[in-house]
Amino acid sequence: MAAEDLLRAVRLRPKAELHLHLEGAVRPATLVRLARRAGSPLFPDVASVRARRRFEGLAGFLSLYRDVCRLLREPADFGLLARDLTARLRSERIVYAEVYVSPAIVERLGLEWGAVRDAVESAFAAHERGGAGRIRVLLDAVRHFGPDAAHRVLDLHARHPWPRAVGFGLGGDELSLPARDFASVYRRLAQLGLAPVVHAGEAGGPGSVAEALRWLKPRRIAHGVAAAADRGLVRTLARAGVALDVCLTSNEATGTWPLATHPVLDLLRSGVTVTLATDDPGLFGTTLSGEYRKLSRLGATRGELAAVLRAGFRAGFAPSRHHPPATSASAAARTRS
Ligand code: ADE
Ligand code: ZN
Repeated sequence: MAAEDLLRAVRLRPKAELHLHLEGAVRPATLVRLARRAGSPLFPDVASVRARRRFEGLAGFLSLYRDVCRLLREPADFGLLARDLTARLRSERIVYAEVYVSPAIVERLGLEWGAVRDAVESAFAAHERGGAGRIRVLLDAVRHFGPDAAHRVLDLHARHPWPRAVGFGLGGDELSLPARDFASVYRRLAQLGLAPVVHAGEAGGPGSVAEALRWLKPRRIAHGVAAAADRGLVRTLARAGVALDVCLTSNEATGTWPLATHPVLDLLRSGVTVTLATDDPGLFGTTLSGEYRKLSRLGATRGELAAVLRAGFRAGFAPSRHHPPATSASAAARTRS
């Protein structure tokens, strides 16, 4: 099959996505509305959102992220974001998604977590009732908010568990605090029935991935690509089956990993489980199919693309019963008819 046919098949077939953030899925038009309501000059129109898709490192991006979050003034705003996200899942045929939702950000904004959770739950439940696919939540703490804030995320969940939450992760500034500072947080996860994930190896080096593996024992790592510089670490990831949820456009946009030197193929060919994801599709202006297109342009074979598609389902914490993964790219092609 020609590359274009294969990519068309990818666009049309059911897919899974395991790494996208609720706030980062905001549609540019929603962002403009929120900014207008807040009287903020930040995003006067959609073009101004699109013009801000290149950043001075991860810190530059996180600064924009903070600006976006400050426009969220009431629980219903999170419902808006959740509806932007579910519309995106439907239009992209993503039938299983794990979405980072951050009680730590909600706390910083001074909003009530229960009301925010209800607004998000209502949008996600409506999406599922519509039959377009399933969504599970990864409760997200923010690394630079520190371990006490992360413990409070778990306290909230312990007091009032959200059945949709299947995992717990740590986003934010990877360079701010070492993973070991969060070891006591991650030790609580098993008891709460939450699978451990963590952002590492995005702005940090292989040492940051090794540190996260040692202290937090994640089942998947968001990004993790810096591991490629350490062959021993790559072997450990492959042997332990720790998947990397890789986001090519995000890495390009933040300048952490330019596409031309991106190690994703090296990781794949070394036996590491790789999934592809958009991270913050509304802010980076990407789609999941666009990520597959980039992987193909880097030289991924048909078999490699199929393996990544399958990994999206297999590495999920509660993969869909209704959309079992296809076993090959040819199965992907069959979904066209
Ligand atoms: N939160 C949202 N996007 C993120 C990213 N790319 N890295 C760390 N934290 C994030
Ligand atoms: Zn992320």
